[in-house]
Amino acid sequence: MARRRPFSPRVPLVGAEGQEAMRRAGRVVALALHHVGAAITPGVTTAELDAVAEHTIRGLDAVPAFLGYQVGEYAYPATACISVNDEVVHGIPGPRRLKDGDIVSVDLGAIVDGWYGDAAYTFAVGTVREKTADLMETGQRALDIGIAQAKPGNRVRDIGAAIQQYVESRGYSVVRVLCGHGIGQRLHEAPQVPNYASRESDIVLRAGMALAIEPMVNAGGPDVDLEEDNWTYVTRDGALSVHYEHTVLIQPDGPEILTIVR
Ligand code: MF3
Ligand code: CO
Repeated sequence: MARRRPFSPRVPLVGAEGQEAMRRAGRVVALALHHVGAAITPGVTTAELDAVAEHTIRGLDAVPAFLGYQVGEYAYPATACISVNDEVVHGIPGPRRLKDGDIVSVDLGAIVDGWYGDAAYTFAVGTVREKTADLMETGQRALDIGIAQAKPGNRVRDIGAAIQQYVESRGYSVVRVLCGHGIGQRLHEAPQVPNYASRESDIVLRAGMALAIEPMVNAGGPDVDLEEDNWTYVTRDGALSVHYEHTVLIQPDGPEILTIVR
């Protein structure tokens, strides 16, 4: 029987210099999300929002992290992932015009001095229904609850377990096939960070680990499908989905959120 290792050495720890660069990358992502949010209004196209994201990131001397990012043979073609209504994540910006009552999830990554930041936020377009606002609030709260578990001595699964417990108590579901991730000098590092209590994620968290925590919360069931474009994930039942993400650094005394403006 193989010995179960409580700590996987594959998870990189971020030193002081890396932490400082990740704070700068996180700030760039937060500012870009802020500017995109300010541009969201009925009638705007998702391509126009992508341009705002790209100009903001480049204007701050950072590099878009998703543009050209390779998954298999597919390179991601834009700066932002913009996912509308039943689209869960990885929607490709284009000529689609947002309309009043839509929700739009914007996911952004930036690189500063080789270090990554990654965050997402679901915005309301104009006025949304009360049910929709409740879903959005639940997604935001789920992220906060997950982040609160990101402290030394806890395990990766404590994050997902807390998120899942809260989301399901509100009558919603968490997406299973997509998860959060370690982050640092690459966008995706070990460990995977599921948004549910997964048996596999028993890695013990330590100070210096950096995680992108990103619950995807569905109004209906947890199942998703991949569209023909090979990027866009949609809910199988067509119900709405929200996505909130922060890049978090685990400090000795708890989580430090990097994708904010201080
Ligand atoms: N936040 C998303 C993720 O971690 C964004 C990736 S989009 C990609 O998967 F184009 F870079 F893949
Ligand atoms: Co991410």
